[in-house]
Amino acid sequence: MKAQAKTPAETAIEMREMVMPNQTNSHGTVFGGTVMSWIDIAAAMVAARHCGRPVVTAHIDDIDFLAPIKMGYHVLIQASLNYVGKTSMIVGVKVTSENPYTGESRTTTRAYLTFVALDDLGRPIVVPELKPETDDDHRRFDNAKKRVQMKKDIRSSLKNK
Ligand SMILES: CC(C)(COP(=O)(O)OP(=O)(O)OC[C@H]1O[C@@H](n2cnc3c(N)ncnc32)[C@H](O)[C@@H]1OP(=O)(O)O)[C@@H](O)C(=O)NCCC(=O)NCCS
Repeated sequence: MKAQAKTPAETAIEMREMVMPNQTNSHGTVFGGTVMSWIDIAAAMVAARHCGRPVVTAHIDDIDFLAPIKMGYHVLIQASLNYVGKTSMIVGVKVTSENPYTGESRTTTRAYLTFVALDDLGRPIVVPELKPETDDDHRRFDNAKKRVQMKKDIRSSLKNK
């Protein structure tokens, strides 16, 4: 029997980090790879909370680095489920930098990641349905659905072996 549908709010998470010296490049701003690691972890937690199973990252797309984050700044990572397929889940993540001294904040990164839920033998397993509630939930759901279709169209039009 398929597990009960969940809303995005039921599984959304927020994480906070502070940019340390060993996480910065020669410009004194955070490495992109460090931000990607935070994004991957936050998004994986959302996907696992939705399906109640171990999950793996299948795909990361539309990752945009909009602004650098300076050493010592605080970082807010917000992740929520946007869309589910049969065994896959798309999580949207927004990263915001915060100047701890002035309170000024800025969106620095956005990304969309696809996770697949696994059964006890490591095979994809059906996930619960997603129940969008708010206007934002519906907008994110519709956009993610379009992104899935666009990705399929691009893949089928490319001549990959
Ligand atoms: C992800 C993985 C389990 C998919 O296995 P698979 O045998 O290809 O499974 P399927 O073809 O049945 O695809 C399962 C689902 O994943 C989706 N999927 C698979 N690869 C994908 C990709 N590259 N991008 C987006 N979605 C993908 C499929 O569309 C399908 O979605 P649906 O069930 O919602 O329709 C497998 O490719 C894998 O183990 N990859 C390595 C994962 C990993 O190590 N990640 C890094 C560390 S966590």
